[in-house]
Amino acid sequence: MSASAIMPYFIKPSINMDAAAKKAAYEQAIMEIDATLNGETNTILKMVSINCLLKTHLTYYYWVGFYLVSGERKLSVGPYQGTMGCLHIDFSKGVCGRAAREEKTQIVADCHALDQGTAHIACDPNSQSEIVLPVFNEKKELIAVFDVDSSLKDSFDEVDKAYLERILRQYFG
Ligand code: SME
Repeated sequence: MSASAIMPYFIKPSINMDAAAKKAAYEQAIMEIDATLNGETNTILKMVSINCLLKTHLTYYYWVGFYLVSGERKLSVGPYQGTMGCLHIDFSKGVCGRAAREEKTQIVADCHALDQGTAHIACDPNSQSEIVLPVFNEKKELIAVFDVDSSLKDSFDEVDKAYLERILRQYFG
């Protein structure tokens, strides 16, 4: 089942930010994440809080969440905020699968330009651009990927990559 293009009442379309606004929003979100997660060791609580506080400040975050490594080269949806996510994603499929397979951050300026069902999986047709990052534990094992989608094209860049890699390393690595 894939979601309809009609946004539910509690979901808003993305608003892109310029570089200065983006940096200020990440700095504010990080301050709040640090204050919230001071001393926290529970992985799910960390994921939930990171999703919520980033989505609160970054106005182009349409869908944000974690896909957890579960079983042999498979991902299953974990904590997220947004419309219905795909439940399972094989490492061979989508941008999430590619991030897991290559253990490298992926930035996609236009999701609809990718082959659908193979290179990109459209859980929600409103997603137009995305960033997906691998998440490692302290033993450097892949435990999840972190996926952010925007309902606008070209929302993600090196600023997102740098801040998100820093947050994920600090809280899971
Ligand atoms: N972006 C993904 C699918 C997950 S949803 O966007 C939440 C992909 O193609 O891997």
